[in-house]
Amino acid sequence: MLRIGIVGAGNIACNIHIPEINACPDGELVALCDIDEAKLKAAGERFGIPEHMRFTDYNDLINCPEVDAVEVCTPNHLHVPIALAAVKAGKPVEVEKPLTTACNREMEELVAEIEKKNVVNMMCFSYRFKSAVRYAKHLIDEGKLGKIVNVNIEYLQSGVFIPGRRLEWRFVKEYAGSGTLGDLGVHLIDMTRFLLGEFKSVSALSATVVKERRKLDSEEIAPVLVDDITSFIAKLEDDVIANFLVTKCAIGESNTIKYEIYGTEGVLKFNLNSPNELTLCIGEIDRETNSIHKVNVPAKYRLGQEECFIKTALGNEFPYYPAITEGVKSQKIVDAVLKSAEEGRVVNL
Ligand SMILES: NC(=O)c1ccc[n+]([C@@H]2O[C@H](COP(=O)([O-])OP(=O)(O)OC[C@H]3O[C@@H](n4cnc5c(N)ncnc54)[C@H](O)[C@@H]3O)[C@@H](O)[C@H]2O)c1
Repeated sequence: MLRIGIVGAGNIACNIHIPEINACPDGELVALCDIDEAKLKAAGERFGIPEHMRFTDYNDLINCPEVDAVEVCTPNHLHVPIALAAVKAGKPVEVEKPLTTACNREMEELVAEIEKKNVVNMMCFSYRFKSAVRYAKHLIDEGKLGKIVNVNIEYLQSGVFIPGRRLEWRFVKEYAGSGTLGDLGVHLIDMTRFLLGEFKSVSALSATVVKERRKLDSEEIAPVLVDDITSFIAKLEDDVIANFLVTKCAIGESNTIKYEIYGTEGVLKFNLNSPNELTLCIGEIDRETNSIHKVNVPAKYRLGQEECFIKTALGNEFPYYPAITEGVKSQKIVDAVLKSAEEGRVVNL
């Protein structure tokens, strides 16, 4: 049994991590930490965490002897320092995405400390755990699409237009690093590295659509300095051309990822609103008739993110496991996309 403490008792912890932990017989949530005492109390009561296992300082949770492993669900700027403290304490750690606000020395220190201490560590690149993505990986690796030529990828949300939305941490560069790009685009970057390989160069355009918002704690209006929409083209290894659109300005879309992969021998598409389905044109018959059809993903491609972290921390191994080093590689691409948008030029990786 893995006894887990979570730092950051907000949306992702309460709505995704904790229900998934509770569904896994090998894991148990035993401790929570949040600097917001009201949120801590509410989450503690909701999930039955006793008062002595509720903390406002993450060091106290990490050093608690009844906590075996730590999950980091705070705003982005705190991911690396909290993960570093957990690794220094020798505890397995799972970190939400993006790993950091920008590549920096502390991130390198985290990587070095992980190597030194050899502790289990995982990035929450959640979409690697969608069965459509895992089955797509299998088909691509089997060569069913031939040589990949190009991909078209969209991540669509509409949260920028929520009426009265204030300058939450997600809109503040210091806490978030970037806007839509780091929040949503990093998932697409990881999925693309996972499915197709490394990036060689990027060329990007970004825009901030809602340019100012009221601060959280006053009526003062402040400028938004992160992107609401970013579009970029990337050249991947083997000269694959990848076209990305990442936006929170897509009215009517709450959370949609569309992914299309075109190869010399076939086509594969998925929309993660149907996470157990692929659309394919592969094999002789499909090719002869030029037909495209839906298939259900076989059940063996299903694996929950929390189940994977818990079982890995308990000594099991899984293919496609996203370690923190994957977060480093994806962050380098996020930084390159930002640089490209800022400087108006192609950036090589
Ligand atoms: N994997 C995914 O698909 C996915 C989806 C949503 C969010 N996320 C990531 O999860 C993280 C949290 O996002 P969220 O939507 O839950 O945000 P949130 O604002 O709802 O929750 C963050 C919580 O962290 C707490 N916090 C802030 N500073 C703290 C500190 N020093 N110590 C302890 N707690 C602290 C806040 O009080 C808040 O309760 C972000 O990094 C985000 O990118 C990932």
